[in-house]
Amino acid sequence: MNISNGQLWKYSSFIENKNYSFIKEEIFKNISQEQIDEAYLTISKWDNYNPTPLLVLNKLSKELNLNKIYYKDESKRFDLKSFKALGGAYAVEKIAKKNKDITVSAATAGNHGRAVAWGARRLGLKCKIFISEHVSERRGKIIEDLGAEVFKVNGDYENSLLECIKQSTKNNWQIIQDVAWKDYTLVPTLTMAGYSVMMKEILHQLNNEKITHIFLQAGVGGLAGAMVAGTARYLKNVPNITIVEPDSADCVMESIKSGKIEKINITRESLMGGMSCREPSLVPWKILKKSINNCISLPDDDIGKAMKLFANASFGEDKIIAGENSAPGVISLIAICNDENIKKKINLNTNSNVLLIGCEGDTDQEMYQKLLKE
Ligand SMILES: Cc1ncc(COP(=O)(O)O)c(C=O)c1O
Repeated sequence: MNISNGQLWKYSSFIENKNYSFIKEEIFKNISQEQIDEAYLTISKWDNYNPTPLLVLNKLSKELNLNKIYYKDESKRFDLKSFKALGGAYAVEKIAKKNKDITVSAATAGNHGRAVAWGARRLGLKCKIFISEHVSERRGKIIEDLGAEVFKVNGDYENSLLECIKQSTKNNWQIIQDVAWKDYTLVPTLTMAGYSVMMKEILHQLNNEKITHIFLQAGVGGLAGAMVAGTARYLKNVPNITIVEPDSADCVMESIKSGKIEKINITRESLMGGMSCREPSLVPWKILKKSINNCISLPDDDIGKAMKLFANASFGEDKIIAGENSAPGVISLIAICNDENIKKKINLNTNSNVLLIGCEGDTDQEMYQKLLKE
């Protein structure tokens, strides 16, 4: 199979950030170097902590004529198979401050609640998780199996969050939410500090090799904001950074276009469920608005195909379990390599070392199997 055949790999839209100006001090005003360092010091002492692999996609880099493509494989993150384990569970620990009597709570579309429930179980805390009626039984069950009480709420994610806030205020539960709003920024910042551990690991794994380009998936922007902060903290150079979103939920792209947070309408839910978000979160937005170079949006069309190529070891020597939210980085890269205009704009060439984030494995096994079979 010719992986890089341009006709077969689609992107919908690509823009450059007109307000780009990467200033480390500005980034650290939103998440401090101390917060980033403390997250690594804490998480790296957890039982069963191991850095996830940084794989090389050597077959793909050869075909695209790039120097190297690195893939951070979060399918191996603890037993949760996603980078989310770093954020929610770390925030639980920081907020609990060794207090065993508190109850933590969160609203979730799936993976964040799982991380909070897992973090609560680690510390022996009670946990209450709110899910909307659209979240599958299966996802609810996984959270219950981690010892949390799960509440199903009529309506969408926002309704589940409102109910979580209402019940938590009434019962004095500590809300551990990954999304920031006015006056609620500490926990989302701690969550990002937890995610930034990935960049510290990458720094060690790179062995002095320099990354020139990074592709970062975004839902509300927490992962992307954390990796940008990690770049500022750990890397000596500043790579060219592209945000990747589903074209049906391109809220970061729309916000970058206008220079302010935009709330978009989602008329079709993307297969990339973790990224199907209407609005960037406040703390990551403050980091992203000037620090990222480009945004690209994608249709869902090539997700299954990319997942299969990961699974068959077509991109590199390793068979990789890449969930649907792990596919868009590689798709964007191939699509850009087939567009001379954009390739030139972002300076992708034979000297480029690209970093992709494989943010999850088969966190939804049924969906994973279904997409592989298509
Ligand atoms: C499972 C999952 N959830 C969520 C996201 C998005 O993260 P955030 O909402 O922090 O931008 C991703 C990746 O982008 C993901 O893989």
